[in-house]
Parts: sequence; C-alpha cells; structure tokens
Amino acid sequence: RRVPPAVNEPVRSYAPGSPERLSLQTRLEQMAAEEVEIPIVIGGRRIHTGNTGTVRMPCDHQHVLATYHKATPELVHEAIAAAVAARAEWASWRWEERAAVFLRAAELLTTTWRNTLLASTMLGQAKTVHQAEIDATCELIDFWRFNVQFAQELYAEQPISDHTMWNQLDYRPLEGFVYAVTPFNFTAIGGNLPGAPALMGNAVLWKPSATALLSSWYTYLLLEEAGLPAGVINFIPGDASMISDIALTHRDLAGVHFTGSTGVFNSMWETVGKNMGKYRSYPRIVGETGGKDFIVAHPSADPQALAVGMVRGAFEYQGQKCSAASRAYIPASLWPTVKERCIAMMGEMKQGDTRDFSNFVAAVIDERAFNRLKVAIDEAKGNATIVAGGYYDNSKGWFIQPTIVETKDPNYRTLCEELFGPLLTVYVYEDAQWLDTLKIVDGTSPYALTGAVFSRDRQGVREAMTHLRNAAGNFYVNDKPTGAVVGQQPFGGARGSGTNDKAGSKSNLMRWVSTRTVKETF
Ligand code: ALA
Repeated sequence: RRVPPAVNEPVRSYAPGSPERLSLQTRLEQMAAEEVEIPIVIGGRRIHTGNTGTVRMPCDHQHVLATYHKATPELVHEAIAAAVAARAEWASWRWEERAAVFLRAAELLTTTWRNTLLASTMLGQAKTVHQAEIDATCELIDFWRFNVQFAQELYAEQPISDHTMWNQLDYRPLEGFVYAVTPFNFTAIGGNLPGAPALMGNAVLWKPSATALLSSWYTYLLLEEAGLPAGVINFIPGDASMISDIALTHRDLAGVHFTGSTGVFNSMWETVGKNMGKYRSYPRIVGETGGKDFIVAHPSADPQALAVGMVRGAFEYQGQKCSAASRAYIPASLWPTVKERCIAMMGEMKQGDTRDFSNFVAAVIDERAFNRLKVAIDEAKGNATIVAGGYYDNSKGWFIQPTIVETKDPNYRTLCEELFGPLLTVYVYEDAQWLDTLKIVDGTSPYALTGAVFSRDRQGVREAMTHLRNAAGNFYVNDKPTGAVVGQQPFGGARGSGTNDKAGSKSNLMRWVSTRTVKETF
C-alpha cells in the first residue's frame, strides 16, 4: 500500500456542554452575523460582476447570509479556457501528488475547517447538527480519502506481460474539461462532483447550486488551502441554463458530473445529442437524478423497526435526501400498530431553526419547495387522509410539518411523483396481496434509486429482493433507505434515477479517465 488506508471518519455527537458543541455554536453565531461576498473564481482569480444574488437562511428567509456574483457568458467561456489551460500541467502531475491535495483537504476538514463547513451547511441548507455532521464533514472527508484509495487500486490494475513484451494501461485524464453541476442537498456531493474528476487529472468547471452556495464556497476555499492549483476547479455561480448552454455545446466538453433533477439531466443529454460531432471525444455523462424511494413491509415485519425506519427514512433532513423514503406499502394487519408508533414518534419530533440543537427537523430549502409541498398537502386534505402532520408556516422560514398521507389509490399522485420534502404517502395492502404489492412497488414510478424491505421472514426478504431487483440501486433489508456511507454502500440508482456510476467508487473514477493500452515489444 502506498497511500494511507481509508477509514470512515467517526461521527461526532456535539453533546450538550461538550467543547465541540461550544466551539461550533461560536462559529454559527459568527457566521450568522456576517454577510459574505462570494465571487466567481477563474484560474484562481476572484471576479465580481456586480450582477448579484443572495443566499438566505431557509429557517429565517429574511436573514441574508451571503451575496454572490453571477457569471456572464463571456466569463463562462473564460473559465472553460482557464480549465483547459490548467489541465495541461495538472494532468502531468504524478497521481500521488494530486492525491496529496485531497488527503490534505480531508485532514483540514477534520480539524480547522470542520466548524466552517458544518455551520455553513446548518445555516445555508437548514441541516440539523447531526445531518450536517454526517454530510459536510464525514461524508466529504470519506469521499476524498476513499477516492484516493480507489484511484490507487485503479492505477495498479495492469495486464499480463512477459519478458518479451510489456503491456501497460495508461489511465489518461480526459481531453478537455469536466462540467460539474452540484445540488443543494449534500455539501459532500458539492465536494465530490468536481473533486473526483480533478483527482483523476481533469480540470473542472463547477456550477454550484444557488441554495448551497455558502458551503460550496467554503469547500472551494478549503481545496485551495489544501494546495489545489489555480484553474483546476473553476467556481462559477450563476444562471444554470446559460452556463449549461455554453458548457454543453463547447468543443472541449469531456464529461458531465451531475446531481439534480431528472428533467434537467434529460435536457443535458438532449443538448449533447444534438451537438454530437462538435466534440473532440464522446463526452462522459454521469448523473444521479430523481427518486421515489420506497419502504415495503412484509406481514412478518417488526412494527417498531418499521416505524423507526419510516420516520427516520422519510423525515430526516426534511425528506430532502435523494434517498428519502416517500412511499410506504404496509400490510393491513400491521398498519394500526405502525401508524400509532409513527404518530407517537412524530409528536415528539421538534421542528425549528437548526441553531437550536434539539430540533430534529427544520425548514425546506426555499419558497419553490415550500409551495410544491403545500399544494400536495392541500390536495391530500381533499382526496386522501392526513394521518399525521399537515401544517405549514412560511411566516419566518419555509416550514412544512412532517406529514403522513394515507391513500387507497395505488396510483395516487404522491405515490408516483417525486416531491422532495417531508411527505410520506402510505398505501395499505391486504396481507394476502404481498406479491401483487411488490409488482405495484416496481411499476409505480419511473425511478430506481433506493428502497427498503422490512421482513422477519427470510422468504419475504427473498421475494422482495427478487421482484424488486431493478427497482432500486441501493436496497436495504430491515433498515431505512437513507444514510449510505462511502466505502460501505456505494450509492446510485438506475432507470430514471441516473447512470448508476456509484458515487465514491472505482467505477465512478473510471469515467474520468480514458485508458490508453500500450504494448512494447523487446
Ligand atoms: N448518501 C446519501 C444517503 O444515502 C445520499 O442518504
């Protein structure tokens, strides 16, 4: 082994009165009191265009955390030129030197940068301290460390040679630039989508989400402090469709690393398809998109484990994980007990500002999300049953109460469409209909990201595993469908949920190299 073995970063508890909690609280207060100015960064140069937007706290939408400058079309072209120029040297670095930048970034994140990434994620994306800890520190540290380990394994994979002939695989970075588009819901994805191609020797144009800009900006600064050379990652906030139009039709487009909606990803493929022939090589298009993640319970399920899985799977981070459970299929024999336990747990869940560490849920990300959820809840009041929750309040922040809706219609809108919020729709089936229910689960949505089966009976597990084989890229048995850990449960889905290149894996890194096979005869 040449690089240090990757080990998952331990999750800290921030227990009341602990030094770690006190120092985080100080950082939160400091960050909430300032208004950061976020520039565009091209080739290491800070650029202020004066055409600005604001970053606001979802829990207190009048509270401005940052002002950011939006790119112009000319600057996007400049950023691409800067990336292509920087690639020439970066690609020639020994891979161990590139790896050292990311190992150093991970180390800085365990120490001096930890509170900054936590606080920016808690304030800017409304994550509770635990949700921020597992995302903005542990998962991001894991992505960077495990990717280095996977890269080492990948580079070591070489074909057979003998004393007359030497065969080598030369894992070349792609020619051109990689376009990374990151979502609001995971700070770690913000560090991984530009980070993984860069580790493999590529230069990147990074379009961060407008609603995660604070943590994305600090992630960029952290990489700079760790020694990332100017121009390897160019930080370009601004209008997504303008930036995408330029990036996706550029001759030097070598790849796309995307997490976001299925609609946007589909339109990216269309743009690339229409412009085929323009590019130097076929662009690598890697994306993780929508989901309609399920929990299905066999009649033998443990009601307590099931209720905990439903509540945690559906409502942690306000249901805004791409992996969050948003539909559940429960046998009639279990439903009264499970319903009672869910209602009891939800009654104890506190909701509010993430600066109060006792809150379990906070606000959804923005007004658009609030309105989407509000409409679905109002509809359910008319044509389904609200089992728990059902309130919303946008007077201070974008608060949607965690809500369980029960329907008798297996094609009910919120059983099929992605809503991305704290709304779980339950369909209760007759116990004898177990196998038919598995068919419904498989056929109801176009997505296949995550799913879970709860069953104490092995036969139930086996049937779910078989009938739902293509319904989820990450499948959980007797556990909630969220919380994949890098190196333990490589994450990604197929069908309408993406290209399933598994974030934080060797197969993902493979997409950022173009292998040259060299045969030398002696
Ligand atoms: N890794 C995240 C989860 O599984 C997406 O919840």
